[in-house]
Amino acid sequence: MKRRAFLGLGAAAVAAGAGWALLRPASPGRLLRSTAPLPPKFRARLPIPATREGTAITIVQREADLDILPGLKTRAWTYDGTFPGPTIVSRRGTETVVTHRNELPEPTVVHLHGGHTPAESDGYPIDLLLPANGQPGHQHHGDMMMGAVATGERAYRYPMGQRAATLWYHDHRMGATAPAVWRGLAGFHLVRDDEEDALPLPEGDHDVPLMITDRSFAEDGSFRYAADHVEGVLGDVVLVNGAPWPVLEVAPVRYRLRLLNASNARRYRLALDPQPPGGAAFTQVGSDGGLLAAPLTHDAIDAAPAERFDVVVDFARWRPGTTVRLVDRLAGLDVMRFDVTGARQADDSAVPAVLSRTLEPLGPPKRTRTFRFRQSTDGTWTINDEAYRPGHALANPRLGEVERWRFLTDFHHPVHLHLDPFQVLSRNGHDVARYDMGWKDTVDVRPAEAVEVAVRFTDHTGLFLLHCHNLEHEDMAMMADFRVE
Ligand code: C2O
Ligand code: CU
Repeated sequence: MKRRAFLGLGAAAVAAGAGWALLRPASPGRLLRSTAPLPPKFRARLPIPATREGTAITIVQREADLDILPGLKTRAWTYDGTFPGPTIVSRRGTETVVTHRNELPEPTVVHLHGGHTPAESDGYPIDLLLPANGQPGHQHHGDMMMGAVATGERAYRYPMGQRAATLWYHDHRMGATAPAVWRGLAGFHLVRDDEEDALPLPEGDHDVPLMITDRSFAEDGSFRYAADHVEGVLGDVVLVNGAPWPVLEVAPVRYRLRLLNASNARRYRLALDPQPPGGAAFTQVGSDGGLLAAPLTHDAIDAAPAERFDVVVDFARWRPGTTVRLVDRLAGLDVMRFDVTGARQADDSAVPAVLSRTLEPLGPPKRTRTFRFRQSTDGTWTINDEAYRPGHALANPRLGEVERWRFLTDFHHPVHLHLDPFQVLSRNGHDVARYDMGWKDTVDVRPAEAVEVAVRFTDHTGLFLLHCHNLEHEDMAMMADFRVE
């Protein structure tokens, strides 16, 4: 969208009484400044999370003191002691059972974002996993609502009957997701399959997951968070795979970068600086739900919270010795740096002109449903004027039927559906935008927009979620159940 039009719509949303003020239109949230000294840029090396393969994986959720800032420790909530947690790698069609043990001081819920998962393993927000170390008889969790509760450990079963894709797992407890993810509860989960393996895309060390999160830090090094930033919490330090403004040394060859915006509220317009000669630095090969039908080139990529963009960058397009910054053009932030090193060399990877032949448009929808994402006059974020109530379904789609869902907004809301991915049909009555291609599970709906998607829920019945993935909005009730029947 053109910047002028964009500002105009932002102003219209304010005038319409959206209840927020003095926000830069590009920043759906409020900046929380660090009180710790900011770390230097481009000193840390990019960490790559450890990978875990297999059909039975155990993860311990526990506190850990991380080295993120020089000379300080950051007490984090982690999956297995690291932030991001370990990268789980599954094969399409092979069930993966992930057993989580909660050694944190509070209940948690695990959701596999993008997973085609039965309801009982989907991380419904009141299906709490209570801490293992709670004192018997002292397990009070206030007036927390509870669904299917487990204590200590819970096995989440993921059938993995889905295309190769970049998924991620994160906490999803009702009313408490935003601070839990901010404190570190997020990790990648990759699905691989034969279709993707047959392509000559960069692999091994040249296939790099990049989890981008903004955070703020208190003087003692702990994560600083502000529950009263109801529009969304924005940090002033950008972490990639948990390290502040890190550096990755790259050879002058192609790399596959799996970009994930795991920030609570911040949107990014990601670009490489300097651009390579001729621009079009990113060749997108995949979106939330895996491979696109054909590659798509971009100068910059707009990524809202929870969206994934799987891109190939050919570092042979810069002279060896060049430092290439990944930047955010919305807020003018640095994200990380790629240092192109070493001599030119043969590169047997490629991006084929056809990526996937299995991407068919969903058939004509049987019905249309409309969901309005709005802030109510009391400040609550609502869907169709309702604050989240577990068990109260706003829609009852039938298994296997194609539906058209329309999302209308007052403000920036990255809208996410559980269970199955969707295809974006239109934006404001026009064609889909450049970032809407392929199978998506999260779509960035900007102020005063109308986005239509086609979706078909398959295989699993029961209660699933529709919500805004600005995590502060989600916690402040912008979530709804739908029941697949
Ligand atoms: Cu990434 Cu319902 O969440
Ligand atoms: Cu929202």
